[in-house]
Amino acid sequence: MASTDALPTIELGLPGWCLRAWRASDAPSLARHADNVNVWRWMSDSFPHPYTLPIAEHWVTRGHIDFGGENWAIACDDEAVGGCGIHPGAGQFRCNAEVGWWLAESHWGRGIGTRVAALLAARAFADPQITRVFAPVHAGNLRSMRVAEASGFVLEGVQPKSAIKDGRVVDRWIWATYRS
Ligand SMILES: CC(C)(COP(=O)(O)OP(=O)(O)OC[C@H]1O[C@@H](n2cnc3c(N)ncnc32)[C@H](O)[C@@H]1OP(=O)(O)O)[C@@H](O)C(=O)NCCC(=O)NCCS
Repeated sequence: MASTDALPTIELGLPGWCLRAWRASDAPSLARHADNVNVWRWMSDSFPHPYTLPIAEHWVTRGHIDFGGENWAIACDDEAVGGCGIHPGAGQFRCNAEVGWWLAESHWGRGIGTRVAALLAARAFADPQITRVFAPVHAGNLRSMRVAEASGFVLEGVQPKSAIKDGRVVDRWIWATYRS
């Protein structure tokens, strides 16, 4: 797995779209697109709300490195309009990689999320020790579940009451794909 600063640019297969490393100059667009309750409500509890410019500045400089794994900007015509990541497990779980994604609401519904999920899985499997790539999705997040399914993940099952979001305990639906 590459250190975050050494991430290559990966084309998404649509003109102008790619995954690339975060840059300091992404802070304003990150704050603009991430400060959205429709994005935040489905993210893990660590995703800030409101998503202020100082928070965005910290993410694009240190936060994405301290978070661990590989954390990418989703870029459209070089503007950061979303984020995604790959987080390998440790110890006996080192054959697993968790993936996650979010996209600016203005770009929803055009197949971007599905392409991102498929690319993350392919990138994770480029590490020969990874045999399982999984994505936990909060109950009710039908868009993200559809993204997982359409990009080749299968539903493993539901982990009831397995996470806290905004002070409430939620079920997580675990989607996964496996090395063939
Ligand atoms: C999840 C997210 C990345 C999807 O991005 P996207 O680019 O809109 O996704 P796509 O266009 O590739 O696919 C969306 C699918 O959901 C479907 N969909 C949209 N609204 C839906 C709904 N209310 N119920 C069920 N399916 C729905 C679309 O029809 C599409 O499926 P299709 O390709 O079979 O038609 C984006 O909605 C997002 O950032 N959401 C908020 C953050 C989030 O949920 N992150 C994931 C946490 S697990």
